[in-house]
Amino acid sequence: MNSIRRQLIPWLKVLVSQGVVLALVLWLRESIPVDGPLLLVAQGLAAALIGRLLGLSPFWIPIQILLPLAAAYNAVVPAWAYLAAFIVCALIYWNSASEQVPLYLTNRRTWQALDTVISEQKATSFVDLGSGMGGVVTFLADAHPGLRARGVETAPLVFLASRIRLMLRRLPNAEFAYRSIWDEDLSAHDVVYCFLSPVPMPRIFLKAKAEMRPGTLFVSNSFTVPDVEPDAVVEVDDTRKTRLYLYRI
Ligand SMILES: C[S@@+](CC[C@H](N)C(=O)[O-])C[C@H]1O[C@@H](n2cnc3c(N)ncnc32)[C@H](O)[C@@H]1O
Repeated sequence: MNSIRRQLIPWLKVLVSQGVVLALVLWLRESIPVDGPLLLVAQGLAAALIGRLLGLSPFWIPIQILLPLAAAYNAVVPAWAYLAAFIVCALIYWNSASEQVPLYLTNRRTWQALDTVISEQKATSFVDLGSGMGGVVTFLADAHPGLRARGVETAPLVFLASRIRLMLRRLPNAEFAYRSIWDEDLSAHDVVYCFLSPVPMPRIFLKAKAEMRPGTLFVSNSFTVPDVEPDAVVEVDDTRKTRLYLYRI
């Protein structure tokens, strides 16, 4: 129920922001100097701004900008555009259907909390299981030149984005592998981090227990391992009240 609510809230915020802007446009129509596509883009931009003020993540900005255009020109959008959009979404949300793990990203405050965990653990190797756009890995590699930071990811476009990020940052101690989390050898890492979903938690923890060395740390963002008490919980001072669950192997 909670997860359904979490999925619906952003869409409600989109509806509210688009609705407020549409109402304003209809009300002030006579005095608005622009019309046509320009007005629709301006409408989308204003809704995107309101959405950000309501706490929507930057990912929603392009969606908010395109929505009024898509609604106004739905009849002229060619059918292939929907197929192309579907393919792009599939290449991004590759693991949503099979693994029931969507794409959402660890925020900067949580990167900093992980930075502290790495220092306290005196870790020399780290892996992010399902490394998304590579933010965690590149941040930690940059902050800890002595750390080997690795990410594994199988969503094609997301993986590509993380490789491009790394090319731009040129961090010799960071790497991304196109590999399933289930194929990664966890014995090589002092800290194993994941931000997945409730579904894979029991299986991934079994794998961690079987492969990780004694004394190393398994860290899960937001999702606990059922029936296993974490050794520590880090409460991050961010808007979504992130919790990191730390399990000592
Ligand atoms: C919630 S995102 C977290 C991204 C990143 N770790 C972060 O915190 O910013 C989970 C990621 O795990 C990836 N993923 C899910 N199942 C996977 C699997 N079996 N192998 C590799 N990656 C997987 C998804 O594609 C997604 O990018």
